[in-house]
Amino acid sequence: MNLTVSGPKGLPISGNLLAFRRDTLHYIQKMAREYGEVVHFRFGPKRHVYLLTNPDQIKEVLVTKQAHFRKAKGLQVARAVVGDGILTSEGEKHMRQRRLMQPAFHRDRIKEYGQVMVRQTVDLMEEWKDGEIRDIHHDMMKVTLAIITETMFGKTVKEEADKIGQAIDVGLKYVSNKATSFIDIPLSVPTKSNREFVDSSEVLDKTIYDLIEEGRKNESKGRTDLLSMLLMARDEDDGKGMTDEQVRDEVMTIFVAGHETTANTMSWIFYLLATHPEVEQKLHEELEAVLEGRLPTAEDVPKLVYANQIVQETLRLYPAAWTINREVAEQVEIGGHVYEPGDTLMISQYVMHRDPRYYDEPERFMPERFAGDLLKRIPAFAYFPFGGGPRICIGNNFALMEAALLLATIAQRYRLHLKEPGQVVEPEPLVTLRPKNGLPMRLEKRS
Ligand code: HEM
Repeated sequence: MNLTVSGPKGLPISGNLLAFRRDTLHYIQKMAREYGEVVHFRFGPKRHVYLLTNPDQIKEVLVTKQAHFRKAKGLQVARAVVGDGILTSEGEKHMRQRRLMQPAFHRDRIKEYGQVMVRQTVDLMEEWKDGEIRDIHHDMMKVTLAIITETMFGKTVKEEADKIGQAIDVGLKYVSNKATSFIDIPLSVPTKSNREFVDSSEVLDKTIYDLIEEGRKNESKGRTDLLSMLLMARDEDDGKGMTDEQVRDEVMTIFVAGHETTANTMSWIFYLLATHPEVEQKLHEELEAVLEGRLPTAEDVPKLVYANQIVQETLRLYPAAWTINREVAEQVEIGGHVYEPGDTLMISQYVMHRDPRYYDEPERFMPERFAGDLLKRIPAFAYFPFGGGPRICIGNNFALMEAALLLATIAQRYRLHLKEPGQVVEPEPLVTLRPKNGLPMRLEKRS
């Protein structure tokens, strides 16, 4: 059976690509409403892209029939930066790496990183002054990078952290441009961006290999940083660990996957708090009741019930990972439709999280909606900011703890206001969903 699925009519050559690019988020939301559970887009004469909005079908793609798919083009270009780490590897290799890395991200293990998260946030706020206007998105990128660097390498490697930060920035921009570009200029062509990328990759590799070498020497000294965890990991089946190259790829993977996603989430949280003073007020009351003025710790996180709901609700409205794309590797039937190798299936958290079938007043920021049994009532794939199945975000607990601790630490001391009243901050759907043009905000120190 091959059901006919329909989608918008497009231009003869480019199909729907131009409309899609012009205003992606609104366009896909609108098309989902108009065409139902499977929207068929044509990107040029040969590319078929299907947006799926039925949670059962999404489950088939991510969980039950996941072996029929591979990661789509956008992430394959990330290989230039992260090599063959768990974000980009496939099949057996992915499963082995995932097994090796899983223990390092266990809920109990990551609790130890809570201290780093709070201290780095306090360090950031030392630069802040009452009344000052700052780009909060820039600050959030900086603090999440400092946190992942310290949890990775175990101490404040200040100079390395700066070098790594700059090089990763170049790498991410490169990947983002490549993923959305029509023309694929090979790295060997010395364009400005290619040269910059190659230079920064060299710096990055050297820095990371040096740190790996140092880490191998100290392997037995009972360290608990992520790098040591990766160096000590052994496969249950063959007792083997990772090569230096594999560790390098996984380090880069964690930097790339675990830095901008959390920074974006923090920026959206502060944007939403600034535009919803009643939510901010309720948060302040909770912080006072639970913390009584002291800094938060990992142990406080479960008690910060409202703060956690703010994080969940922000991830609903502004999911940092706004889409998951998969390419069909082997013919597969889903919901009565047969997909052919090369077809792309698009699953969008942004679309699903704003679907009126599952959420009352879906566009409204209302953290309280997570207070009841919402997550039990709706299908699993109506709310999935961290994806699902064997490739579910390995850093989900890390990210949730980090977001709650950053939020509590900052909101305890500062209120962040929009620079201009009524200032609208647009989401820009690149590899992650970030605030377009940053997030200038005015700081008000809380007495
Ligand atoms: C709010 C923050 C975050 C969000 C919204 C997020 C979201 C996601 C999503 C949706 C995926 C699945 C992608 C797919 O199936 O194609 C993913 C994968 C991944 N994430 Fe996260 N993530 C966040 C933070 C983090 C952090 C903090 C880390 C590491 C410390 C991390 C590491 C990873 C890795 C390594 C993968 C690849 C897993 C695999 O393919 O096996 N993420 N993330």
